Amino acid sequence: MPATDLVVALTGASGAPYGVRLLEVLLRLGRSVHLTISPAAVEVMERELERRVRLDRFDLADLLGDAAGGLPGKVEYHHHTNFQAGIASGSFLTAGMVICPCSMGTVAAIAHGLSQNLIHRAADVHLKERRKLILVPRETPLNVIQLRNLATCAEVGAVVLPAMPAFYTRPHTLQDQVDFIVGRVCDQLGIEHQLLPRWGLPEE
Ligand SMILES: Cc1cc2nc3c(=O)[nH]c(=O)nc-3n(C[C@H](O)[C@H](O)[C@H](O)COP(=O)(O)O)c2cc1C
Repeated sequence: MPATDLVVALTGASGAPYGVRLLEVLLRLGRSVHLTISPAAVEVMERELERRVRLDRFDLADLLGDAAGGLPGKVEYHHHTNFQAGIASGSFLTAGMVICPCSMGTVAAIAHGLSQNLIHRAADVHLKERRKLILVPRETPLNVIQLRNLATCAEVGAVVLPAMPAFYTRPHTLQDQVDFIVGRVCDQLGIEHQLLPRWGLPEE
């Protein structure tokens, strides 16, 4: 049977709502998710969502709030320094990894194979095993170093899916815009969803 576990990493780019919503959607769909979070992501989450996640005493409710209860999926949390985690090895099979949001620092570390934390290492593993790696970077404007690092990641097989919500879908709320990006991530993972209206199809 093919592996179905997914890896989700949250890093310190602006856009914490994308990562949190992605996790919630995957758990609602009953998926098993290996979750890891960088210290910078904790800071950004506190600022953007007013949620304080404890990396040393992780509690899903700190991250998802009321939405944490009763979700059919399963989260296995791994501390970002824990290189003993299964996801640090290619022999641990997964259906792919998403870094959402993905900071420029993490993009640089991946592009240059630094493996300084579990997030970099798991990304490295997904690339070397030729598995799906989806990066959701957020920065503007971009300097040439950042552009080159993104290009390097794309050249070695990563999907670069910038947090750039579209307006042709006529979003009414911020949630619509968040769901547009999360829906596009799910498209890349081959996961069915109804998070966004599709161009060329009549609206329901
Ligand atoms: C409030 C806040 C917003 C930030 N926004 C971004 C951003 O949009 N993009 C980015 O690349 N870095 C951003 N940063 C900087 C990163 O968090 C920083 O470079 C950090 O070292 C990234 O570490 P990480 O990749 O391990 O999470 C932000 C930092 C803070 C505190």
